[in-house]
Amino acid sequence: MSVSYMTHPLIKHKITLLRKQATGTSEFRKLIEEISMLMGYEALSDLPTADIKIKTPIEETIQPVLNGKKPAVIPILRAGLGMVNGILALIPLAKVGHIGLYRDPETHEPHEYYCKLPENIDQRQIVVVDPMLATGGSAIAAVDFIKEHGGKKIKFLSVIAAPEGVGALMKAHPDIQLYVGCLDRCLNENAYICPGLGDAGDRIFGTI
Ligand code: PRP
Ligand code: URA
Repeated sequence: MSVSYMTHPLIKHKITLLRKQATGTSEFRKLIEEISMLMGYEALSDLPTADIKIKTPIEETIQPVLNGKKPAVIPILRAGLGMVNGILALIPLAKVGHIGLYRDPETHEPHEYYCKLPENIDQRQIVVVDPMLATGGSAIAAVDFIKEHGGKKIKFLSVIAAPEGVGALMKAHPDIQLYVGCLDRCLNENAYICPGLGDAGDRIFGTI
């Protein structure tokens, strides 16, 4: 598995704002969408193109456009939903699937409650989005599910990751490409990322 860590100063700046306890729900939502768009721009730099003939006001010319089946964006619910519009801003025609998982507060194991993927998933570039990669349990379960349904070309976008989660995901799914906004120090005793940003789902949906 390849792991790419984001180095762009705009991404770094926005992740710092996102982390702040004083950042309220509406600003948090806006930031996570902007970060997702910037990360998506980096992660999708290898989308296939094909040349087509067009006419400019000056002359006919052969120029590239995106080619192939429409990509699929797949958020891990709930928090991944906050990243979808950032990716759709780049590829408005992308299909959207959903994978509903929540972590058991005691065991930290993921539990599935809803999953629906776009058809012909085996032919699509898949972009799984979840802002937090902590133990890696949710990410591994989501990628397991996608692969069981035929998904092959998988990119995973995580805004903040713990080394434990990166290691576990790499071990379980060495064939996927992981994009991390910022690699944090460690997990705490409740499997929260330190310094992290707290509970991403609660901060996006205002449930704290
Ligand atoms: C959060 C987050 C990830 C998961 C990461 O979701 O959005 O999906 O935890 O933790 P892990 O790497 O240890 O599995 P959570 O289970 O809190 O659900 P929510 O998004 O519905 O709040
Ligand atoms: N899920 C979150 O939302 N935050 C963490 O720090 C870990 C898992």
